[in-house]
Amino acid sequence: MNAPLSSTMLADTNGRAYGRKRGTPDDLLMQVGPGTPMGEYLRRFWHPVALSSDATSRPRKVRVMGEDLILFRDGKGRTGLLYPHCMHRGTSLYYGRVEDEGIRCCYHGWLFRVDGECLEQPCEPNGGARKELARQPWYPTQEKYGLVFAYMGPPDKQPQMPRFSHMDALAEGESYEVDNSGFGGYADFNAPSVVPCNWLQDYENVMDPYHVQVLHSTFSGVQFSEKFISMPKVEWSYTDHGVIYNAYRSLDNGGQLKRVNSVFMPNISAVPRVDASEGQAPGLGWYVPIDDHSHTTFWVSKVTEETRGQLYRGLAMHNGKYWSELTEEERQSFPGDAEAQMSQGTQPRHGEWHLAMSDRGVSMVQRMLKAELQKVQQGQDPIGVTFDPDATAIQVTSGNYYS
Ligand code: FES
Ligand SMILES: [Fe+2]
Repeated sequence: MNAPLSSTMLADTNGRAYGRKRGTPDDLLMQVGPGTPMGEYLRRFWHPVALSSDATSRPRKVRVMGEDLILFRDGKGRTGLLYPHCMHRGTSLYYGRVEDEGIRCCYHGWLFRVDGECLEQPCEPNGGARKELARQPWYPTQEKYGLVFAYMGPPDKQPQMPRFSHMDALAEGESYEVDNSGFGGYADFNAPSVVPCNWLQDYENVMDPYHVQVLHSTFSGVQFSEKFISMPKVEWSYTDHGVIYNAYRSLDNGGQLKRVNSVFMPNISAVPRVDASEGQAPGLGWYVPIDDHSHTTFWVSKVTEETRGQLYRGLAMHNGKYWSELTEEERQSFPGDAEAQMSQGTQPRHGEWHLAMSDRGVSMVQRMLKAELQKVQQGQDPIGVTFDPDATAIQVTSGNYYS
């Protein structure tokens, strides 16, 4: 399961840096553009691309899996996601005007509906006699939980949106809270939500329970909860939809904390509360590639009026500052997920890694992704794709449980 420590650790150069082997990233895992194996696999799923509140009458640039797109909301409330360059002569629809029926290019006024259909060509004789044949490249969108989701894959393979057992029913007084401010310690309400490293570094980190004991609990002090100071006993396993771990910790009072964390293929997590408070995970997170070297995260949680705004903001602060306000020295003194992951590089040099026993969850995630993208290459449907609108919801058991 785990690769043995590589011989580079025992090199005959006595481990000196001179002449060391240069490791490269694993392109199969890192590349997300159209036509790449991972890119085609990821394109079989709906992905959040923006907060619903970001889709307005002002065109907005979004970049997803290496593709630049324009997001808008037309006067009828429909969200649209179009290829930026107008099919006429390539002017960007970023400078377009959003109208009731769609978006109008600023150059010659061609008007496109959210599904790319061209409704008007005002400079053409008779308003464009052949405009029915014109189609601005587009992707379908839908909204859920306060997020705009897009499907960027083959039209005949468009799946249903997955459902999750802990999410869809709201109790009295509950609502959804959404967040797009970057990951863990990088969450920063003053900074753009672009995390400068590959999406997988962030996603696989969810299956790395040991870093919680070091990075977040003992290296520079308690970042999340004192309950995580003790080293856990961890069991990982595959599920029908991804990977799960149970991390057990003995408590001073003789009891036990069982922390269950899970990821769902291809890029979704249900992380239990990091303050270690009891109960089921509050929501879901998506790790969405911007391109091969950066990503963004979308979180949705069920909150009440009392808990709204608390889930992420507390986490974001160190010394009363947001991440972007920390000095270099402060970032060295109490590094968080941002420092740990971004300093791996915008892509890790996998060939230089020395995976150990505690990395089992990371290996499992990578192995499952590779198996799934291979399925897509062979013409099969990957795990997590369903075409049945009545399909059973994915069971989520993530949470902190005390006994
Ligand atoms: S370039 Fe868009 S209408 Fe001419
Ligand atoms: Fe972390």
